[in-house]
Amino acid sequence: METHPWSVLLVDDEARTLELLSSLLRRQGFVVTPTTTTGSAIELLRTGSFDAVVTDVIFDGRAVGKEILRAARARSPSTVVLLMTGYPAVDAAVSAMRDGANDYIEKPVDGQLLGAKIERALRGRESSGDAIDFVELVEILSRLVSTSIERIDPYTAGHGERTRRYSDILARELGIDVATRERLALAAVAHDYGKIFLADLSFLTKRGPLTDDEFREVRRHPMLGSEKLGNHVRLRDVCMWISEHHERWDGKGYPARKAGDQISLCGRILAVVEVFDSLATRRSYKEAWDLERVIEYFKAGRELAFDPLVLDAFLPKLERFGMDWLHQPRLDRRAASLT
Ligand SMILES: [Fe+2]
Repeated sequence: METHPWSVLLVDDEARTLELLSSLLRRQGFVVTPTTTTGSAIELLRTGSFDAVVTDVIFDGRAVGKEILRAARARSPSTVVLLMTGYPAVDAAVSAMRDGANDYIEKPVDGQLLGAKIERALRGRESSGDAIDFVELVEILSRLVSTSIERIDPYTAGHGERTRRYSDILARELGIDVATRERLALAAVAHDYGKIFLADLSFLTKRGPLTDDEFREVRRHPMLGSEKLGNHVRLRDVCMWISEHHERWDGKGYPARKAGDQISLCGRILAVVEVFDSLATRRSYKEAWDLERVIEYFKAGRELAFDPLVLDAFLPKLERFGMDWLHQPRLDRRAASLT
């Protein structure tokens, strides 16, 4: 059963159509994000998550529906995609379905009919087959792991999910393939899983600095997480990346003091993203940092804590999206009813 309103990305270059359909879908209970350009739709699909995407097929005479369809499926294969077209013809419908669209609707679009089609496709997705694909499995594990960690350290609400989102942005930027990115998503949500198994959980929410002994214990969490996640053959690299998320480029990290490319690229991505989100988050022992201070910190850590290759991909994103990303932990904590 659906426990939250379905989110819909609505893409059309005609502002009036977009406005009208948005309000009709909102009246039917959908959470709608409207956008008029292909570029912004693809960027939203890279950084956000939607249950359904409804897009026009032709923009300024150019067929772009397929690009949006591809972007939606790359992010999540189970995203429902409906195409709207001003050229009602059987072959357009067949072509759209062949490309993987869930459904096709002729323009002018009837808002009620569109809402019904979206709902039917989403309900069909929920009831289709028993097989769970890897992406769905990551979603399920993500919820399990994050609720477990957040139970013992409420300040980390949403940390795993944000780490997943930012790592995926970097992994795409660095040309990492889809199958590796799917596994990286799991490593990102589970990177701090080992914290659950520490001997004393009060260290995690302690105000003020840890003693040497406490810090030594906390530093066991990357290896604990890697071990406790199990030894399934498909999870071997995931476990390794988790074990590496506190390693440093200069070899002064932990637990294995790996340096440079002894640390896997995914491990180096996690190391950057994990530190970013920790700096951006208020914890029991510190306030959240502002964007200027965060950027300076990363620049100063080039070739010390952080891989320059990963930083070169990360810093431009930080300059572009950093303000939004810095607000996110507060929103996630509010959503978890903590502040
Ligand atoms: Fe960690």
